[in-house]
Amino acid sequence: MIKPDAVKAGNIGNILQMINAAGFRIVAMKYTHLTMDTAGKFYEVHKERPFYGELCEFMSSGPIVAAILEKENAVADFRTLIGATNPANAEEGTIRKKYATSIGENAVHGSDSDENAIIEGNFFFNGLERF
Ligand code: CMP
Repeated sequence: MIKPDAVKAGNIGNILQMINAAGFRIVAMKYTHLTMDTAGKFYEVHKERPFYGELCEFMSSGPIVAAILEKENAVADFRTLIGATNPANAEEGTIRKKYATSIGENAVHGSDSDENAIIEGNFFFNGLERF
């Protein structure tokens, strides 16, 4: 997902270019706007965390780009490409180092396992939206 901060800052194109250059194939893509309710469902796994409310407020504060990406070793390679959750700890050349401003407003989200990638892909896309 490209998060509301990166969309607002005009970085959709820059981020997609980095994703393409890293060898990911786009299987599905959507420009949409989460509500508090849908953001809450997407991040349900974090429901007990102290930042959950803030996270849902932020994720519903503006449009996002959701995508399914395909590549060998996609989950691990995408996490390498995006960098650490907190941009202060992100490696040079990563998406978050370039475009994130804080741990909350960190430009992009990537699935943390193959299992969650399937769940998160199904959250946004049906079978007719994948190519
Ligand atoms: P993401 O990869 O989308 O997964 C969960 C998100 O919660 C994470 O990126 C951060 O944006 C957010 N998050 C994690 N820790 C904090 C925190 N301490 N304060 C605010 N947001 C956080």
